[in-house]
Amino acid sequence: MAISFSPVHPVFAAECQGVDISRPLSAEDRRAIEQAMDQYGVLVFRQGTPLTTEQQLAFTTSFGPIEPPYTQIRSVEGTRLDNPALSDISNLAPGGKIMARDDRKRLFGLGNMLWHSDSSYKETPAKWSLLSAHVIPPEGADTEIADMRAGWDMLDARTKAQVRDLVCEHSRIFSKGALGFGFTEQELRDFAPVRQPLVRRHPGSGRLSLFLSSHNGRIVGMPVPEAMMLLRELTEHATQRAFVYSHKWRVGDLLVWDNRCTMHRARPFDDAAYPRDMRRTTLAGEAAVAVALAAE
Ligand code: OGA
Ligand code: MN
Repeated sequence: MAISFSPVHPVFAAECQGVDISRPLSAEDRRAIEQAMDQYGVLVFRQGTPLTTEQQLAFTTSFGPIEPPYTQIRSVEGTRLDNPALSDISNLAPGGKIMARDDRKRLFGLGNMLWHSDSSYKETPAKWSLLSAHVIPPEGADTEIADMRAGWDMLDARTKAQVRDLVCEHSRIFSKGALGFGFTEQELRDFAPVRQPLVRRHPGSGRLSLFLSSHNGRIVGMPVPEAMMLLRELTEHATQRAFVYSHKWRVGDLLVWDNRCTMHRARPFDDAAYPRDMRRTTLAGEAAVAVALAAE
């Protein structure tokens, strides 16, 4: 069966069929997936069976190198997954029991329910995130993804001119701090803010994209409340329902999103009652290209 892509939303996001992603990809299929990612920003693969760690790593690295490691917030119980290249996006402690309500890893992870772009708080933000579903709860816990190129396109001309050359500061201190999460002195040092353009050019499509994220907490040269208000306005605009794809998980799904042109968030579920086991690999990106620097 030939590889094919069927849109799952009017403005972006598609489901990919006709390829077995648990096996090595042919050069043609790899190129087709890259092109589809550049066009759609989000791809859904419904495999039925979760990828093993080795299969997820092999699929991921066929598109480039994995992101280097970064300071993690660990559960008091220790680390559950054996491979540091996998981010543990679950409510589980080692051994598979549900984390305690006050576990720091759980509290930190609640920040995934804020709209964000993965690793926007790193000097070099992420390219793609690949999230696989191993165990899902009976209800809730959808993942929502918003199209930041549509968000940019649909801004009025005055706002585009106002924001296109702005530079922001991103840190986990801003995102998790907004929820009241407390940091150690060491974490405050590790999570020093980095600068990112507010509008960036998406390399694969050449289109402009709003680089918003809950990690964003300052705009260079703007008083803080004014900056925060502007970021809220832009986020409300960019996450209106018309630009959002809501993924309803099935076990074995792999959801891939391009962090350079989308934002995403987790939706709530009863995390004291039900396990949710998701595992993420993340591709290294490149420095975000600001509009002012990009060739028009
Ligand atoms: C992530 C993330 C959302 C979810 O893995 O980066 O934000 O629904 N996940 O788990
Ligand atoms: Mn995320």
